[in-house]
Amino acid sequence: MAFDRKEYARRRAELMKRIGADGVAIVPAAHEAVRARDTHYKFRQDSDFAYLSGFPEPDAVAVLAPGRRTGGHKSEFVLFVRDRDPAREIWDGRRAGTEGAVRDYGADEAFTVDAFEEQLQPLLAGRARVHYTMGEHSAWDAKIAAAVREIREVSRRGAAAPTDFVALETSLHEMRLKKSPAELKLLAKACAVSAEAHVLAMRTARPGLREWQVGAEIEAHFLRNGMEPGYGSIVGGGENACILHYVDNGALLRDGDLLLIDAGGELHGYTADITRTFPVNGKFSKAQRAVYEIVLEANKQAIRTLKVGESVGRPHEVATRILTEGLVDLGLLKGSVKELIKAGKQRQFYMHGTGHWLGMDVHDVGRYRLDGKYRRFEPGMVMTVEPGLYIAPGTKGVDEKYWGIGIRIEDDVVVTEDGPRVLTGGVPKDVGEIEKLMA
Ligand code: GLY
Ligand code: MN
Ligand code: MN
Repeated sequence: MAFDRKEYARRRAELMKRIGADGVAIVPAAHEAVRARDTHYKFRQDSDFAYLSGFPEPDAVAVLAPGRRTGGHKSEFVLFVRDRDPAREIWDGRRAGTEGAVRDYGADEAFTVDAFEEQLQPLLAGRARVHYTMGEHSAWDAKIAAAVREIREVSRRGAAAPTDFVALETSLHEMRLKKSPAELKLLAKACAVSAEAHVLAMRTARPGLREWQVGAEIEAHFLRNGMEPGYGSIVGGGENACILHYVDNGALLRDGDLLLIDAGGELHGYTADITRTFPVNGKFSKAQRAVYEIVLEANKQAIRTLKVGESVGRPHEVATRILTEGLVDLGLLKGSVKELIKAGKQRQFYMHGTGHWLGMDVHDVGRYRLDGKYRRFEPGMVMTVEPGLYIAPGTKGVDEKYWGIGIRIEDDVVVTEDGPRVLTGGVPKDVGEIEKLMA
C-alpha cells in the first residue's frame, strides 16, 4: 500500500460523509487487459479504487454504505475480492482473499466477487442514491442495473429502490483533486526523479542516436527508482515534435534539430508529467532560440498565476497572450494581439490547453468549472503548466527557418498558501542552463 491504513480510512470516512446516509458508493477495481495470447499488460489498478482501498488486485469491487451495520457490527466498507486459489496463485501470484481483505485492507466485511450480485440487493435497498460512474465498466453496469430493477420489483413489499445514479465526479473526484500532505510527498518524489531522468536525457542526446535510445535512458531511470512510465513517453526529434501525441519514437536524431521529450514517472500510483525541448547538438540556433524564449516566458508567467483564489482559466489566458504576442513579434501572425486571440488565429501554432489537473491519473480527475464558470485555485490542487508552439513544416506565409520547430515546456505545480510550488525544477529550462548542461 502506498500509504498507511489511516490515510485510506480517512478517505473512506470523508467520502461517506459526502454521500450521506441515504447514499451508497460502488467502486470497481480494474480488470487485467490481454496484451497477446496468454500474456497481459502490466496490471495498473483503477485510480478511484486504489485511492479508497489500497487493494492491489484486479476484479474486485468496493462498496461504501454509510451507517450500515450487520450482526451488531459496523459494516460500512465492504470489499468483494477474488477467491483464494492455490493453483492459480502458483502461476499468477498471491491473492489476499476475503480474510486478507479484512485483516490487511480494513474491510468491515468481505465476500468473494462471485457473491456480488447476491449481496448487492441488500446493500442497495433503502438507499436513494447510488454513487457510481455508469458506462465505464460495462460488466458491473449490467449487474448493478439488474439489482436495482429487482429491488424495484419487490419494493411493493417494503424496501425502497434507489432513484438516482450519481457520477463520482461530485464526491470522490473533488476529494482527489485536493491532495493530502502524504499525496504531495509522493508526487514531489515522482517529479524529482522524473526531473533527474530528463537531465539524463539531455546528457545522452546527440546526433545519430535514435529517439528510443534517449527514451530508454529516461525509462531506465524510472525503473531503477521503483517507478514506471505514467503514460507513453513522447520522444520527438525535429518535426516529430509537432505531432502532439507522437509515440513512434523511432527516428534518427539529426544535427541542428530540436528534441521534445514529454515523459513522467509514476510512483505508487502518482505520476509526474514533464516536457522539455532542447537542441540535439547542445546549441540552440537563432530561430529555435527565438521561438523557445517565447514559450519559456509563457511557461514562467502562467506558473505565477497558480495562486489561491485565482481563476483556473487564468494560466491559459496568460500563456495564450504571451504566445500570440511572440508570434506577432516573429512575424508569424499579423494584426492586433487582442483581435487575433478573439478570432483564434493563434490556434494554428498553439492548439492545446495550458494545463490539466495532475495526480493519480496524468489527466487527473476534478472539475475545472462549477456552475458553468471557472472555479478558483485552492491549496493542494496540482496542475501542469505546458505552453507550446508548433510550426508545421511547409506552413505557408512562414519563413522556412521556422518550419518543423515544435517546442513545449511543461512543469508540475502545487497551489499553496505561499504561492505556486514547482515540483519539476530539478531539470533546467533556461537556454543558458540547458546549453551548459549539454556542453
Ligand atoms: N503527457 C500528456 C500531457 O502532457 O498532457
Ligand atoms: Mn506531458
Ligand atoms: Mn500534461
